[in-house]
Amino acid sequence: MEIIIQSTRAAASKLAALNIARLVQAKPNAVLGLATGSTPLMLYTELIRLHREEGLDFSKVRTFNLDEYCDLPPEDPNSYRFFMNENLFKHINIDIANTRVPDGLVQGAEILRHCEKYEEDIRAAGGIDLQVLGIGTNGHIGFNEPGTSLASRTHFTTLTESTRKSNAPYFGGLEAMPYYALTMGIGTIMDVREVVLLAFGESKAEAIAGAAEGALTASNPASSLQMHPSATMFLDTAAAARLVRRDYYEWTFAHKPDWQ
Ligand code: GLP
Repeated sequence: MEIIIQSTRAAASKLAALNIARLVQAKPNAVLGLATGSTPLMLYTELIRLHREEGLDFSKVRTFNLDEYCDLPPEDPNSYRFFMNENLFKHINIDIANTRVPDGLVQGAEILRHCEKYEEDIRAAGGIDLQVLGIGTNGHIGFNEPGTSLASRTHFTTLTESTRKSNAPYFGGLEAMPYYALTMGIGTIMDVREVVLLAFGESKAEAIAGAAEGALTASNPASSLQMHPSATMFLDTAAAARLVRRDYYEWTFAHKPDWQ
């Protein structure tokens, strides 16, 4: 796993956006895996700027989002479909028909079929070239909560109490916060060609330290990325604060270990 530490969220987001822009320039019909949450917002703002000011062309790009809350219709402002439309898709020249988010409204036996179909559609698109990830304070990626099988594929999942508490403010309180979600699995994420994980702020520092330098364990789902051949973490200084090693890009010289 490569780790890139920048002094600000803006700088880290710009570097991550550059990775995506280079991919899209080299492969105009690239398949992007996308994430929601506050973390990728600046990355999306930068992609929008690259589109508007530098002509970055998304007309042939296809996207698959990581996850979606169950029981929220796409027009609900808290749904991840709504989030993607508002924060990225409506500001770039992507064909909305080429953008996919799991359908949180499927019910009962349809759920399994929907998840299998999501996997089939990713395969039919040629696989995901680059996956954007945030990380939960408990190390979750997508909605793969601690304890999720490292081999899991797209599935229905129960949100942990800590995730419900973390995300409750968006819903105006815990009562309105969903209990369930659909998410790509860790196995799905491990199959992508390149992972770009973003994490900012001190609330992510412990999860990042575990993921980057701790044991490979389902207790910290992001630690599975240690086994990914092409995964990069883009961090700000606060999210990197609990890393012990110092051999990371833009960290080595600026931040001396205590013993030096
Ligand atoms: C949600 C999403 C994750 C995201 C996480 C962190 O749980 N399912 O994909 O990484 O929140 O959110 P934030 O970026 O707002 O801290």
